[in-house]
Formats: sequence, C-alpha cells, structure tokens
Amino acid sequence: MNRLTITPIIRGAYMEALGGPVILLSSDEERSELPELKIDLKGADNGNADNKDADSSEVYTAAVRTVEAEAARQIGEALAALKADDGSLPATLCVPGIGSFFAGTGWAEADSVRQGGTRRLSPFPPAGRADVAKGRIALVTGGAQGFGAEIARGLVGEGAFVIVADINTDGAEAFTAELNAGAVKRASAVAVDVSNEESVKAMADAVVAEVGGLDLLVSNAGVLRAGSVLELAAKDFEFVTKINYSAFFLVVKHTSPIMIRQRTAAPSRTSDIVQINSKSGLEGSNRNGAYAGGKFGGIGLVQSFAMELVEYGIKVNAVCPGNFFDGPLWADPDRGLFVQYLNTGKIPGAKNVADVKRFYENKVPMGRGCEGPDVLKAILYCVDQAYETGQAVPVTGGQVMLK
Ligand SMILES: NC(=O)c1ccc[n+]([C@@H]2O[C@H](COP(=O)([O-])OP(=O)(O)OC[C@H]3O[C@@H](n4cnc5c(N)ncnc54)[C@H](O)[C@@H]3O)[C@@H](O)[C@H]2O)c1
Repeated sequence: MNRLTITPIIRGAYMEALGGPVILLSSDEERSELPELKIDLKGADNGNADNKDADSSEVYTAAVRTVEAEAARQIGEALAALKADDGSLPATLCVPGIGSFFAGTGWAEADSVRQGGTRRLSPFPPAGRADVAKGRIALVTGGAQGFGAEIARGLVGEGAFVIVADINTDGAEAFTAELNAGAVKRASAVAVDVSNEESVKAMADAVVAEVGGLDLLVSNAGVLRAGSVLELAAKDFEFVTKINYSAFFLVVKHTSPIMIRQRTAAPSRTSDIVQINSKSGLEGSNRNGAYAGGKFGGIGLVQSFAMELVEYGIKVNAVCPGNFFDGPLWADPDRGLFVQYLNTGKIPGAKNVADVKRFYENKVPMGRGCEGPDVLKAILYCVDQAYETGQAVPVTGGQVMLK
C-alpha cells in the first residue's frame, strides 16, 4: 500500500473513533517525534495494492479490497490503543514506512498541527440536521461556474470543505480564492478533464493528497450542444455523450474507491454521490437528443451504481434541475441560449432577450427558473436522507412531475 491508498483508511478510522468528519493532511516525511501507528503492512499487502503499473491502477479489484480491509482492521486497533480515557486521539501520527498524518476538524486545524503544533482531537458531539454538510469533504466537478459554482458556494456556506474540479483551471483557481477570502481555508481547486480517464484518476489522487478523503461527490460538469437529429454532427453528439454520460462512469470509478477505503475503517459512516442530471433526464427534449439521451443514461448509471455501491455505504442519487435562466448557459450576453434563440427566431414574436426569457418562465408552474439554492437543498436532502438511494429528485418548479 502507498500513502494515497492508506490515507482514506486512516481518515475513516479517525471518523469512526470520533463520530464526525476530519480533514487529514499527510506527508512522506516520517516524523519520529509523532505518536507511532504500528501496522504490519507486509502481512496486509499482496503487491497489487501498490498500484505499481498503469493497468492495476485502473482496476480496483476484490483482492485489493480484502488487503485494505485487513489494513483497516489493524489501523482501527492501533488507533484505539492511542485513545485516552476521555475518548480523545492524537491529531498527529507517524506510520513507519508510509509517512506522517495531521488531522483536524477543519483544514486550518490540521495545518496547524502540520506546522508543528500538538493537540488531541475530542469526540464530536451528536450532529443535528443543520450539520448535514458540516466538516464533510465535497468534490464538485465543473465547479468553476454556473450550477457547479453555486453548489460549491452553498456547500462552503454549510460548513463543508469543497474541492472545485474543472477543466477551466484559471476559473477554478479564481473562484476558490474568492471562497477562501475569509480567515479560514474552505476550498481547493483541482484541474480535471472529466472525459479523460488519466485526468480523472489524477483528480482523485489530488483529493486524497490535499485533504485525505471524500464524503460527497457532486458530478456536475456538463455540456450542451443542441441540434436536430437530422442536422447535428456525429462528433457533436459524441462530445456531449462523452462528458454528460461516459464521464460520470469515470468519475465514480476513480472516486468511489476513496469512499470505500474510508468505509473499511468507518462502518458506521456513509458517503454520497450526487449526479447533477436535468429535467431532460426525465422527459425528452425536442431537438436536443444528445443532451437528453445522455441525461436519461445518467439515471440508468445512478440506479445501477446505487445497487452496487450500497454495500460500501455509498448512496447514489441524481438531482434533476429545471432551467437555470440566470446562469451563463442561458444568460451569457454573447453566447447564451436566450440570445441564440432570439437571433434564430425560435420564439415567435420575441423582440428581445427578456421576451425569450418570459416565454420559458411561463412554461414553469412556479413562474421562475431553477436557482443554485434550489439545487443545494436537493443535494442536502440526498445526504441527510439515510434511507434512500438510486433516486432522481426533480427540482423544476413543477415543470416535470414524476409518474
Ligand atoms: N443551466 C441549466 O439550465 C441546467 C439545467 C439542468 C441541468 N443542468 C446541468 O447542470 C450542470 C452544470 O451546468 P451549467 O449550466 O452550470 O454549465 P456551465 O456551462 O455554466 O458550467 C459547466 C462547467 O463545467 C466545466 N466543464 C466542461 N467540460 C468539462 C470537462 N470535460 N471536465 C471538467 N470540467 C468541465 C466548465 O468549464 C464549466 O465550469 C450540467 O450537468 C448541466 O447538464 C443545467
């Protein structure tokens, strides 16, 4: 095993012992002055778990999971031996042969022990409903703008630590700088192209290296190339399918092992995957088949992954928003859908962008478009609801009603 595979297990062991989420920073340096977490990794390692060659790194096999479960057992026992009578644990650890680990209830606390501070972590008080995202680590793909940015900002507001992953690296960096403008670091940026497996794997590794684990994946990155089946170029169909459909598989494939590793050491804790789908994943969309088809497919993946990953305490749900009229996709003054539909005369009688917007708002029983806080509430519901998985939650102001 290596530091990237062992870190989520140690994080899980902390969370199980303390009853709440921690941030776990790590380093290759073995600091001998720190409390030692003694584990016999030789006995727990069959060689595969090292992920030495590219092929094995792409396959998270049952044999590797067995090895990791044994490591989790040892880590849980070793951590329990460091527990004081008041239930507290040392925030710093050294694992011989692996490196050093620094835990905190937030990023700043973990960083302060990394800088040389010493402290112990006390058990968490029981969490209430308002704490549903508090202290959790969330990853939001496509988080640099639009719904993704709204979701990331909302989760930070709820007390989560958020990793904003986007192909637009500058946008993600600038946005996380804005989120971190207060005194406490609440977010990090990671570069990713969700349609490229190597890039997705690197993103998953970066999340572990950055904060030690993952509690909530919001798979949000998506694109739109509308067009008639008679006219849309095949390459545009494939582009939309690759990002809106296939990439969800890649992102789940490479992030769920992090959640599984945590779970091996924290059987009482659950994690969540939420796919940002669309109302177009619940009913067809005229001249927009590539988008609707990929979104319908996304619901099939959500249901299937939910069945499989329930064994590891991972819930998988979709949130299906209606149109976000104030977001860049619709409202961008140069390339937004309102201006495009105005210019192509798609809406008969529309003289300006406001007319086009009104036309679409009138299709919604509640008379307005979907907004970031509406989507955030649905995500928090999915996380809070312990007894549901594989569902598609509409957030459409009544525009789409489930049968
Ligand atoms: N805007 C809407 O009206 C609406 C309605 C329902 C559902 N949705 C869904 O919400 C999600 C976000 O949509 P939005 O309107 O906010 O989009 P947006 O275009 O405003 O933002 C999408 C973000 O994803 C990033 N991205 C694109 N391709 C990527 C890739 N290959 N790898 C990583 N990042 C990539 C972009 O850089 C951007 O930051 C999508 O899944 C979309 O289908 C949007």
